[in-house]
Amino acid sequence: MATKTVKKSAAKKAPAKKTAKVAAPKYGYFDDAAKEYVLTTPATPIKWCNYVGTLNFGGIVDTTGGTLVCKGDPALNRITKYIAQMPCSDFKASTIYIRIKDGKSYKIFSPFYVPTLTKMDKWECHVGLSYMRWIAEAFGLRVQVTIFVPTGSNTLLQDIQVTNIAGGAKEVDIIPVYEFSHFEAEKQLTNADWVPQTMTLKGHWEKDGHVVLEQYAYMKRDYAVNYVTADCKVGSFDGDRRVFLGQNEMGSWANPLSLQNKELANSECDRGDNIAALMIHAGKIAAKKTFRTCTQLGQEQSLKVAAKAIKKYRDLKNVDKAFEELAKFWENYLSTIQVNTPDAAFNSMVNVHNPRQCHTTKNWSRYLSLYQLGYGTSRGIGYRDSSQDLMGVMSHMPEEALVLTKNLLSVQRPEGNAMHQYAPLALEEDNGNEANAGDSREKKGVLDENGNPAYADWYGDDHLWIVLTVANYLRETGKMELLDEEIPFYEAGKKRAQREKGTVLEHLKRSVKFSREHLGKHGLPLLGFADWNDCMNLPLGAESTFNTALYAKALLEMMGIEEALGNKEAVEMYKGWYEDVKKAFNDSAWDGKWWTRWFDKDGNGYGVSSAKYGKIYCNGQSWPVISGIAFGDRAVQGMDSLNKLLNTKYGVKSSTPGYRGFEPAVGGISTYPPGAKENGGIFLHTNPWVMIAETILGRGDKAFEYYCQINPASKNGILDIFESEPYCYPQNILGDEHKQFGMGRNAWLSGTSSWTYQAATQFIIGIRASFNGLVVDPCIPSAWAGFEATRKFRGATYQITVKNPNHVCKGVAKMVVDGQEIDSNVAPVFTKGVHKVEVTLG
Ligand code: GLC
Repeated sequence: MATKTVKKSAAKKAPAKKTAKVAAPKYGYFDDAAKEYVLTTPATPIKWCNYVGTLNFGGIVDTTGGTLVCKGDPALNRITKYIAQMPCSDFKASTIYIRIKDGKSYKIFSPFYVPTLTKMDKWECHVGLSYMRWIAEAFGLRVQVTIFVPTGSNTLLQDIQVTNIAGGAKEVDIIPVYEFSHFEAEKQLTNADWVPQTMTLKGHWEKDGHVVLEQYAYMKRDYAVNYVTADCKVGSFDGDRRVFLGQNEMGSWANPLSLQNKELANSECDRGDNIAALMIHAGKIAAKKTFRTCTQLGQEQSLKVAAKAIKKYRDLKNVDKAFEELAKFWENYLSTIQVNTPDAAFNSMVNVHNPRQCHTTKNWSRYLSLYQLGYGTSRGIGYRDSSQDLMGVMSHMPEEALVLTKNLLSVQRPEGNAMHQYAPLALEEDNGNEANAGDSREKKGVLDENGNPAYADWYGDDHLWIVLTVANYLRETGKMELLDEEIPFYEAGKKRAQREKGTVLEHLKRSVKFSREHLGKHGLPLLGFADWNDCMNLPLGAESTFNTALYAKALLEMMGIEEALGNKEAVEMYKGWYEDVKKAFNDSAWDGKWWTRWFDKDGNGYGVSSAKYGKIYCNGQSWPVISGIAFGDRAVQGMDSLNKLLNTKYGVKSSTPGYRGFEPAVGGISTYPPGAKENGGIFLHTNPWVMIAETILGRGDKAFEYYCQINPASKNGILDIFESEPYCYPQNILGDEHKQFGMGRNAWLSGTSSWTYQAATQFIIGIRASFNGLVVDPCIPSAWAGFEATRKFRGATYQITVKNPNHVCKGVAKMVVDGQEIDSNVAPVFTKGVHKVEVTLG
């Protein structure tokens, strides 16, 4: 009888299992153990990529082997000629050809699939932590290629291993190729006279058969040269694209005619399109045997200076060591915060992919991606963007973050507001390239009815973000002495040494003072050319409630800093300023069910129920909560209106409804069709602010729901809709007013990364640095019975266990640190050792 019952229930369960079976993802899968995303097809919906190295040396490697490398500055020191707008199937600056002798001719394929487009038996691209690895099988060969930049080096390595997986020996050649760009990236595209006249490639044979190909634009010959070489001897090379492709370039990248000859032509290039192609004869590879070689692409002052690195990476043991060191860097980096919650997708994002993306945005700001192409110096390191990016890496690399923080402070003007962006090399070399005031230049000539400039030439928010960034650094490190350090202000046209200087504290004071002194009719901070929302450009005199909230938040930070310094008077002063703006805001900005977003110079509200388009804005609701300026019930009501009117299954829209056509009066926002970007799109950067606001209100279930609906990992099953990389946040998803609702674009370089990481770690998990210790103040889904986390803080490791016996969202009932119950939810600063923190919610 018993047996029968068991059988019956087993039989009953079987169909359920069947239906639960998930179809294999179409494009790839997450390998959490290896911390990789593994692509199984090269035909991604759009170009996907990864980053290698850092801004000092590195760039983008796409999933089909295209490589965009630069040193220090994408616009001013670009190395390879990657043209992002070319179709996915085109050669883009680099590839490898594998050539197999087949009777009298050759079979040729690229393990990247591009550009030969050869059908393969197996193809995988492993998107790893600052490396890319392909495993491709065709014609009885398995080719493994790993591309990475050793930590701290100026060399891109390509570790190539070819294994004969079929029977019988195979005669194989390996031909890696790079194409160079003029160092001024934009000139490469806009000048076909001067650029090619300067581009030079020389081959240097060494006595033992190694070759080093040296490349430079003529005026860089004595200052910065690029080089390509390999660990092994090569048979021949080509430096001239025309020669390599053959028949005056009627040969193509898919089928370079020179590859039908045993050797390349050893062409140098005294002008024209410079490439570096090496003919590496692997010889006859016997069954099951592997041939390995490693190429180097680097830049140094001269080949003499490069000699040391060249020698180092010609030893494959050093290549292995460099790869291990890279893995150690990441292990150490990620170990700063690790979580173990009941939600696997949350863990994977918080433990690996999100902090990794934060490292990328910290490096490249909005300068270099497949969307932000890094041409011209009018873009660069963005003041507001980088200030926010820095907060995403502050716990992991505060001292490195400080270098960029100081650079940002050095483009703050003496008046207190900031330049909008700068090219990194322009700052370092003081070479006449100046920081710039940003897009506001576009409207410089526009005059109002009295003949005065109609638009501000400054942004209302830039200078306020840095207050938050510095406060983050101080809380993380406790190094208050930073505040006494002197840093110049930015004065266009003046050399760095001649500029006015001020202490870091003085810089911060001028930030908030600038906003205090630029208030509008309602007593709210002026918009300037724009606030966070770059696309709402109202004429001078407009006020922004976002700038209001950001200013208030910056004042809270100033109070915290001054308090920590013991400056009671200053605390009182900022408290007064805070109360003033809070009152002005509540007196003017409540629209009935939500907060107004802007007032134009005549006092008309934007983001109000009476408006036809843009009735309600997301940031208009979240930021009053984040900054604490929303009075009473209005905080909740604003957030509930947001939920009702702006939330979708793919994320919260930035506003609704979208403008239906270009309206010069509002500017940028109406250049997009409804549902796109700032015009009613799901502009993801705004979403973590909604999560943070919900945790402040104590609504952990809501916060987590907002978190999950934009988690890119959760899109792996709907990539034909989402299209963007599932391993990083894109900047925007099309909203529900758009036909392509759900489609993600502008991957990698988005403030979404820093803020979602902050939302997850500091507000949902609720572990954050304070001046006096480590705060544990979770706001989690009520279903969670608890979680564990490890956090490194000021030299010590905190092992935190949170229990949630009553299934609440928020509220610490008890905290025990190293066995001692303490009277708050702040674990003390220890500076060393491992410490146990047990927290009970209730
Ligand atoms: C882009 C800009 C950023 C701006 C945002 C919203 O992400 O880089 O500075 O805040 O758009 O307009």
